[in-house]
Amino acid sequence: MADMGGQALEIFEVMRTAGAIREYSDVANSDEVLYEILDNARFAPSGGNRQPWRVLVIKDAAVRRRVRELYSEGWKEYMAHVKKGLVPFAPIDGGKWSGPAVDLDEAAGMTFSNQYALTLDESPILLVLLARLSDLACLDNGLDRQSIVGGGSVYPFGHNILLAARSKGLGGVMTTVVCRREPQMKLLLEIPEEFAVAGLITIGTPKKFFTKLTRRSVEEFTFVDRFGGKAFMPSDS
Ligand SMILES: Cc1cc2nc3c(=O)[nH]c(=O)nc-3n(C[C@H](O)[C@H](O)[C@H](O)COP(=O)(O)O)c2cc1C
Repeated sequence: MADMGGQALEIFEVMRTAGAIREYSDVANSDEVLYEILDNARFAPSGGNRQPWRVLVIKDAAVRRRVRELYSEGWKEYMAHVKKGLVPFAPIDGGKWSGPAVDLDEAAGMTFSNQYALTLDESPILLVLLARLSDLACLDNGLDRQSIVGGGSVYPFGHNILLAARSKGLGGVMTTVVCRREPQMKLLLEIPEEFAVAGLITIGTPKKFFTKLTRRSVEEFTFVDRFGGKAFMPSDS
């Protein structure tokens, strides 16, 4: 059971209601709350228990604004794909990525109204999530497709942060479009060479209450024994 101002949330309730929250009011004692969140999230698993994550807690207003600008630039590249009905930067070419499917220079000149991209620097808590590349055992490296395994050693930690926040009655979101500007982020935040920018996490008291999340049912994403086989149901066991 998780603690939420005296009340308690079941773990399943936390998981089912920890949706993306992008608009916040303040968090009282945010440093104490953030410390508690991180102190629980750190029990996330990672390959070889190497715990490749690092977290930058961004407090400086000017730095926050620059992070927001870089996010907005990435957001334009993302939206330029979406406008054309494409999954942005998806490795669709035989499991590989063969370059942007839109003109990125053109995207830079576009304006997309996005409240989060305009205000994320005002989030009560703003974190930059890093991954130490030399700690990632990417067991799918060398396969003739996009590598995916490495992220599995850092994103469970990121989601743990959001689950812990939810259990405290807070809301947040993990975002990755700023990764489009990793070189600029590294310069801005003095991030050493061997680290990658894995994303941003913002957290605060939700302005709107949690709504019901839309997710596929178990039957829609499971198969018994072979891909394309019948969907898994409890009666199978
Ligand atoms: C790996 C990852 C990357 C994401 N990147 C972004 C992002 O760059 N910007 C953003 O607004 N949301 C981002 N999100 C949040 C998703 O959009 C969100 O989890 C999803 O749409 C479900 O939203 P819901 O919980 O409100 O249903 C990301 C989520 C994940 C897990």
